[in-house]
Amino acid sequence: MRSMRVVGLGGSLRAESTSRTALQVALDGAAADGAEVELISVRDLDLPLYTAEHAPPPAALRLADTVYGSDGLIWSSPTYHGSVSGSFKNALDWLILLAERDPPYLANKPIGLITTAGGVQGLQAVNSMDFIARSLRGWSVPLVMPVPQSWQSFDPDGHLKDEAVASQLRRLGAEVVRAARQFRAKGTCDYADDAQRSPGTIPRG
Ligand SMILES: Cc1cc2nc3c(=O)[nH]c(=O)nc-3n(C[C@H](O)[C@H](O)[C@H](O)COP(=O)(O)O)c2cc1C
Repeated sequence: MRSMRVVGLGGSLRAESTSRTALQVALDGAAADGAEVELISVRDLDLPLYTAEHAPPPAALRLADTVYGSDGLIWSSPTYHGSVSGSFKNALDWLILLAERDPPYLANKPIGLITTAGGVQGLQAVNSMDFIARSLRGWSVPLVMPVPQSWQSFDPDGHLKDEAVASQLRRLGAEVVRAARQFRAKGTCDYADDAQRSPGTIPRG
């Protein structure tokens, strides 16, 4: 059986992006759990603002295909004005290209949510991502990672120096792999499995 494929989408245009570093660490956690991982950053995608008036650019088509081919996703955006960055939201808007697929959009895909925030409003960005995930038919996993006061956890060049944060991010990556395995095996995801639940997760229902 092929391994789980986890795709990370990073939402900062900054070269020394802390949210990109956080995403890479979470993907390392997914890879340590046996997943194939790929990191896509809005900085590299260089997408135009979404419009239906022109043919989709190749970068948007590649993004949509790569996301659709994944078993699970990890999203990581900087917190901008109490929500996600505009470039991150724009990348997700291009996923309207998945509307006519069967199943559509991000159906049956678990999504791990990360933000880095200069202050303490990161949970607002995570909640924004949760709204978007649901509208795209995805399943956000209960463990989320809003990293507050990012200047304390990261060096100015964007390297993560806080091992406690790194450990939680790796756990989030592993959690996405665990949920993706359940979706593939059962077509659903069951958080009632106490034996495997990661510490710190909040069960649903
Ligand atoms: C336009 C802009 C808006 C921001 N808004 C907020 C905010 O509302 N709350 C907050 O805690 N930090 C805010 N910040 C700080 C960023 O969240 C913080 O620097 C973040 O770690 C940047 O992520 P990056 O390194 O991946 O670019 C803002 C930064 C910018 C540039």
